Amino acid sequence: MFEALSVPPIDPILALGGAVRADARPDKIDLGIGVYRDENGHTPIMAVVTEAEGRLLVARTTKTYVGARGDTVFAGRVTELILGQSKSQWMTGIQATGGTGTLRILAGLIVRAKGDVTVWLPEPTWLNHSTVFADAGLRTATYPYYDRRISKVRVDEMLSALETIPSGEVVLLHGCCHNPCGADLSPEAWDAIAAIMSRRGLIPLVDLAYQGFGHGLDKDAAGVRLLALQLPELLVAFSCSKNFGLYSERTGCTLVVAGTAKKAALAGEHMALVARLLYSMPPDHGSAIVRTILEDERLAASWRSELETVRLSMVSKRRQLSAAFRATTGTADFDYLEHGAGMFSLPNLSPREIADLRRDRGIYIVEDGRINVAGLPSRRTADFVQAVTELLAKRP
Ligand SMILES: Cc1ncc(COP(=O)(O)O)c(C=O)c1O
Repeated sequence: MFEALSVPPIDPILALGGAVRADARPDKIDLGIGVYRDENGHTPIMAVVTEAEGRLLVARTTKTYVGARGDTVFAGRVTELILGQSKSQWMTGIQATGGTGTLRILAGLIVRAKGDVTVWLPEPTWLNHSTVFADAGLRTATYPYYDRRISKVRVDEMLSALETIPSGEVVLLHGCCHNPCGADLSPEAWDAIAAIMSRRGLIPLVDLAYQGFGHGLDKDAAGVRLLALQLPELLVAFSCSKNFGLYSERTGCTLVVAGTAKKAALAGEHMALVARLLYSMPPDHGSAIVRTILEDERLAASWRSELETVRLSMVSKRRQLSAAFRATTGTADFDYLEHGAGMFSLPNLSPREIADLRRDRGIYIVEDGRINVAGLPSRRTADFVQAVTELLAKRP
C-alpha cells in the first residue's frame, strides 16, 4: 500500500532544527525554531507554571475524558485575556491543541460553513499557514504585507488588496509579533483594516500566538479587540505555547464571534465536531495549568510579571542588536530590528547568503530568512553582527 507514496515536502523549520543538532561546532548559533530562549539557550519553565502544576498534582483526582470542547472554563478565561472589555455576547470558545490545532479546527469550521472559499494570507507569513489550510481542503492566496528590502509593512498595498478580495472570503491577520517579520500594524492601520473589512464583508481570522511578547498583553490584543467591536464575525486562533511557555503541552483556544446567539452556538457545535474527528478530545494538563493561574489573582499577577520579564529581555536584545549594527556598519539599516515586536525579524538576506552563514559560521537561519532574536545570546551579538556585515560587504 505504500508504493505510491512520494517523499513529502520538508518542513523547513523542523529540518533546520535537525541540522543544528547534527552540527558539532560548539560555537554554532541557532536562530531557527520559534521558541523563547534565555541567555544559556534554554527554554525555561515559568516558575508560576511549576507552582500551578504542584497544586494540580495534589488537587486532581481524575484523568477522565474532558469532552471535545475541552475545558470551557479555561476557554472563558482565555477569552477574557484576548478580548478584555471587547467581549461579544455572541461568541464561542473551545480548547484546542496549541495554536496549530486551533487553526486546523478553524479551517474545518470554514469548510463546513462556506465550502468553496479562499483564505487570504499575508505575504510573508508563518510557513505552516498555507499547509494547514490546504490540508483542510481550502484554497489560499496572498496579500502584500511586508517589504523586506525596506523593512516596512506595505500598508497601502495591503489596504488596496483588501479592497479587491471578494466579499465573504477569509483574511488571516497576525494579531501581534508577526511571524516571520516582527513588523506589526499600527493602530491607524488596524482602524483602516476594520473599516474595509466591515464595509466589504470580509471575515477576519486573527492568529494570536504571541500575546504579551510584543508591547504587553493589552496592546498586543488591541487589533483583535477592535475587530471584535466593529465586525459581526471574527475567528481567533490563540496559542498558550509562547506566553505560558507551554510548548509541549499543546494548549490553545479557538474563539469565534458569530453575530447572533444561534450562529455562535452552531459554530461551537461544528468546532467540537471537527475536534472530535481530528483527535476526539484535547489533552488537559496545559489548560488546567492556565486555568489554575488565571483563576488565582496572585498566580495571575506572577504570570504577568514573568511574561513581562521575558518580553523585556527581547526588547533589550533587539536594542543591543540594532546598536551593534549601527556601530559596525555606520548606518541605520538595521534599526528595524529594534522596532520589531516579539521574537522574529526578517533580514534581507538571499538564500545563498543564508547558506553561507550556515556553512562558514554555523549561524542557522530559517530558509525564508527569518531570525529568532531570542535565540541569540547577548555574548554572541558581536559575532553575529560581524558575520552579517562581512557577508553584506561582499555584495556586488
Ligand atoms: C503565527 C503562528 N501561529 C501559530 C503557531 C502555532 O503555535 P503552536 O506551537 O501553539 O501550535 C505559531 C508557532 O510558531 C506561529 O508562529
